[in-house]
Amino acid sequence: MKHRLPEHPWPTAAEAAASRLFSPVELGPVRAATRTWVPAMVPWRSNEEGHVTPEVLDWYGRFADGRPGVLVVEATGIRDVPSGPLLRIGHDRFVAGLARLVETVRARSKGETRLFIQVIDFLRIRRRPEPARFFDAFLELRDAHRAALVALGKLGPSDEPDDTLVRQLLAGLSEQELAEVLSERELEALRSGERERVTDVHLPHVADLPRTLPPLFADAARRAREAGFDGVELHFAHAYTMASFLSAKNTRADGYGGSLEGRVRLPLEVLSAVRKHRAPAFAVGCRMLCDEVIEGGSTPDEAAWFAARLATAGIDFISVSKGGKFEDAKQPKIGHAAYPYTGESGHECMPTVRIDAPGPFGRNLRLVRRLRDAVQSVAPHVPVIGCGGIGTFVEAEAALARGDCDIVAAARQSLADPDWWQKVREGQGATVRRCIYTNYCEGLDQSHKEVTCQLWDRDFEGDFEGADVPQQGRRLSLDEKRRLVPPARRLDASAATESPGGARVEF
Ligand SMILES: Cc1cc2nc3c(=O)[nH]c(=O)nc-3n(C[C@H](O)[C@H](O)[C@H](O)COP(=O)(O)O)c2cc1C
Ligand code: SF4
Repeated sequence: MKHRLPEHPWPTAAEAAASRLFSPVELGPVRAATRTWVPAMVPWRSNEEGHVTPEVLDWYGRFADGRPGVLVVEATGIRDVPSGPLLRIGHDRFVAGLARLVETVRARSKGETRLFIQVIDFLRIRRRPEPARFFDAFLELRDAHRAALVALGKLGPSDEPDDTLVRQLLAGLSEQELAEVLSERELEALRSGERERVTDVHLPHVADLPRTLPPLFADAARRAREAGFDGVELHFAHAYTMASFLSAKNTRADGYGGSLEGRVRLPLEVLSAVRKHRAPAFAVGCRMLCDEVIEGGSTPDEAAWFAARLATAGIDFISVSKGGKFEDAKQPKIGHAAYPYTGESGHECMPTVRIDAPGPFGRNLRLVRRLRDAVQSVAPHVPVIGCGGIGTFVEAEAALARGDCDIVAAARQSLADPDWWQKVREGQGATVRRCIYTNYCEGLDQSHKEVTCQLWDRDFEGDFEGADVPQQGRRLSLDEKRRLVPPARRLDASAATESPGGARVEF
């Protein structure tokens, strides 16, 4: 099914000025000038050391040009360990680069945009192995494997085979036989790559997470404050460690799992550790799921309960997302790691025009509303941020008017046109380059390639210095891609004729 982009009228500048969307809002000690929000999006523009690079500065500077009320910097790792080209905040040496990022956003938004940074912890996940390598090197042999080979008639009851033979026999089994011989986790490791879970308490570093994570998050938040950020967004969503503590799949028996109280305990302890070093004018919020969208996962009612607990404990804002889990991810290709946005839960996280009814536009708002109602009942001052396929003023304003959320976030629409907030505010909505929600950008994220948008990366106008202007349709070099940011568009009505989005888009 393909859903047509909604065709809505755009407001005049006067209507925008009188709207809810462009009215201020308090996030704890921080005031945002408008209720417009660019949520975290990893663009893969850091380097192997996790530093802020010139490309990262260009990227966020470009979003700041559109002057959203709040801009959230991508998921940034809180540990001081190599994490590929993911931005990092796990050591004081990262503070200087992050401070340059803050200065860039301040300057480019003319001091208007509040800048938060999303801080993340994640557990180890391995790439899907070559089967031969899995049986040769990764699989830890158990007596059960030998017994199963006997049961299958591959070994005699009195045989005493050495490990090499057992590995060879296992490697020669059919898929069906392997399903009988290997445990569920071993099968997963073979078919998708080994993945740690918060319930793996036999691993000392996993058992210790309730001790190690609160200070790691607190230190990350301190560094964010020292770098000059206006706040920190604790990543409690999607497929990562903290969301896994909240998950109904968390059966830990050490007081940090099982019951709702047990599952919310570590998120509350992390929040408390971060808030201990709270400074005036520094907000502490989180991103969390309104629904995990996996079998046996947390329900929207549980999410609402967690949100109310976090609000009671003093959180300054709650940004709501949906799905994005490993449990239903598609099997990756050999040599690739599982990506948590490939199954149904992933499709709910970044819905496309091909998703089932009622389509991608404002798809999550009903559940965001349920969560917000729970927050309102205990802490009405705590704003809830809603997102999911919102790309017009009418949708955003209606969500606020209905009370679905207090602030409207738009990720892909802001990627398609970072100026869109400002264009709408100036009565130039007809010139907005509209996202067509087919997830080319997400495909790049999936392969950890520099994220761009199909609406501008081939029709590029030459925004970076020192490079030839690429021709339309030409393949860009890696170096050019790294420096590619959304091109600026003029704020006049004639630009509407150039826009691949807008009301004329046909499906
Ligand atoms: C390329 C890309 C990277 C993303 N990275 C993050 C991230 O780092 N953290 C996060 O919480 N969500 C991330 N998201 C999800 C978005 O913040 C947002 O929740 C989702 O795209 C739905 O909003 P939208 O319909 O306005 O795009 C990412 C989305 C995209 C497209
Ligand atoms: S690549 Fe597609 S889905 Fe992503 S921002 Fe651009 S138009 Fe939207």
